[in-house]
Amino acid sequence: MKILVTGGAGYIGSITVERLIQAGDSVVVFDNLYQGHRDAVHPDAVLIEGDLADKAAIEAVIREHKPDGVMHFASYTLVGESVEKPFLYLRDNLVNGSNLIESAVKHGVQGFILSSTANLFDDPERMPIAEDERIVPGSPYGESKFLLERVLHWMDRLYGMRYCCLRYFNACGATEERGEHHDPETHLIPLVLEVALGQREKITIFGDDYKTPDGTCVRDYIHVVDLAEAHILAMRTLLAGGHSRKYNLGNGRGFSVKEVIDTARAVTGHPIPAVVGPRRAGDPDILIASSETINHDLGWTPQYPGLRQIIEMAWEWHQKHPHGYEK
Ligand code: UFG
Repeated sequence: MKILVTGGAGYIGSITVERLIQAGDSVVVFDNLYQGHRDAVHPDAVLIEGDLADKAAIEAVIREHKPDGVMHFASYTLVGESVEKPFLYLRDNLVNGSNLIESAVKHGVQGFILSSTANLFDDPERMPIAEDERIVPGSPYGESKFLLERVLHWMDRLYGMRYCCLRYFNACGATEERGEHHDPETHLIPLVLEVALGQREKITIFGDDYKTPDGTCVRDYIHVVDLAEAHILAMRTLLAGGHSRKYNLGNGRGFSVKEVIDTARAVTGHPIPAVVGPRRAGDPDILIASSETINHDLGWTPQYPGLRQIIEMAWEWHQKHPHGYEK
């Protein structure tokens, strides 16, 4: 396959590129490098530095490289930030994604994968969350992904461009070469590992009075390699003539904030001091996605569901790259 990956210098995008290249596919990465890292891009991929806000730039890339499929990761992705800066999400995520989708349709791209979010389901009636759950975006971030899902719906209906939306919660873990490096870091596992590396004094647990067994929030932590494989499998299926689909991706079980910290203590041998702080606005008690449908349709199942293995792999990468991709 020849695949255009937007956000291919970011965390999930760069690891998907790595797996595509390992599988023998050819990859063009389009990334503005605001949040992504040049060194995260596999050397065998073509890196084009550009911004999806520049419609002519993305169209030129698609016209020139003629990808079979597009995987769209490039996005603002923080729930909390989206509440403070809604238009970065409701406008920029939507406009940038629409620019890409419009060019993809215009140039006959056969398959489009949207890396979406399970933040579409803020008020689930059933847990784990299945695809037929009521859509209630939990933030302007979730809404922006939902709007892009709707754009894709219409592009299939009007022009026959097949797409697949993959919704998931907490990407985590690493490969030998690539891992998680955000600036500023807001995600639990890398923050906990920064404490173990001596870069932070302690971790703050955002509330311990949730309706969960140990009082801390339970989330669906899913290994980034499992996510990458799901994106690739979904793309192969589309390019083989599969219909448009929306799938939820989950680990099969959730882990609490305290379980994450305890496991990180066991893996790193560091005491990782933790204090309990106030709740973070908008955090539900438990979020777990059901992967039954993608398992049934495509045979996808997570290969790294264990929290210990996830944290071990992340720890290995963080030890080797204590400052991430910064030299
Ligand atoms: N947490 C802490 N302390 C911290 C950081 C996080 O206790 O210093 C807790 C959070 O309250 C939450 C859990 O750890 O309960 C995980 O938080 P993250 O910030 O790591 O991730 P989120 O669950 O907020 O975000 C993830 C994805 C988003 C997605 C969202 C959907 O990163 O892309 O789930 O809810 F939209």
